[in-house]
Amino acid sequence: MNETIRLMNAHFSVRRFKEEAIKEADLKEILSAGQMASSWKNFQSYSVIVVKSKEKKEALYDLLPQEAIRQSAIFLLFVGDLNRAEKAVKLHEKDFHPEGVDNLLITSVDAALAAQNTLLAAESLGYGGVIIGMLRYCSEEVAKLFRLPDYTYPVFGIALGVPNQQHAVKPRLPLEQVAFEEEYQEQDLSVVTAYDKVQADYAGARVTDSWSERLAAQFGQPEQEETKKLLEKHKLL
Ligand SMILES: Cc1cc2nc3c(=O)[nH]c(=O)nc-3n(C[C@H](O)[C@H](O)[C@H](O)COP(=O)(O)O)c2cc1C
Repeated sequence: MNETIRLMNAHFSVRRFKEEAIKEADLKEILSAGQMASSWKNFQSYSVIVVKSKEKKEALYDLLPQEAIRQSAIFLLFVGDLNRAEKAVKLHEKDFHPEGVDNLLITSVDAALAAQNTLLAAESLGYGGVIIGMLRYCSEEVAKLFRLPDYTYPVFGIALGVPNQQHAVKPRLPLEQVAFEEEYQEQDLSVVTAYDKVQADYAGARVTDSWSERLAAQFGQPEQEETKKLLEKHKLL
């Protein structure tokens, strides 16, 4: 196994950080590595807001009380972004059509690829972090806090810092249940119950609900409305 793959296999989300800064040179290297991710037609339809100030982190924590936000050395807000695109389009066309599901996929996939590169680069330098997607449950407040303009929306953030916790890597679904040969293979319920057990063994007493119960809590009810409201307000839906 080479060094890159070893690093990827050692990933775990870090939610507790030491009171230590991320060196400026490291931050630049991390963000630049993030930027090298592929993007749809090289549009790079995302932006990153680098949040260092305690006040802004506290304000975000007030909206979404996740300890990782407050403890992070730096919080990176990944923004799906067609605001730059609008300027480019206006050079050539009268109309601008940023709205729609496929355009949302373009911006959120671009942001996600850059974010994963960013996190991995940070991990390679000995930092740790966690992606924070729940901030979409308060999309409008987050947009206001970070002054997001039309044609932009928060996708998720990454809380980054020097790890103050160590735990075992979380086991994934068996590879053959997510990577199929030649055609899709629908899974039966036994896959779900088997993985519930794997997760229960991994999490022990720390977690009271099972993996499938968490899926049910997410997808067993209509989606939350906050993201949609902001997307409509920012002219993306
Ligand atoms: C899009 C996305 C959103 C996430 N949102 C949160 C979050 O709001 N809070 C949190 O503690 N972890 C969050 N996570 C982290 C996942 O819970 C974590 O990656 C997953 O349980 C696998 O664990 P691991 O990263 O330690 O391997 C998020 C991850 C992703 C990819």
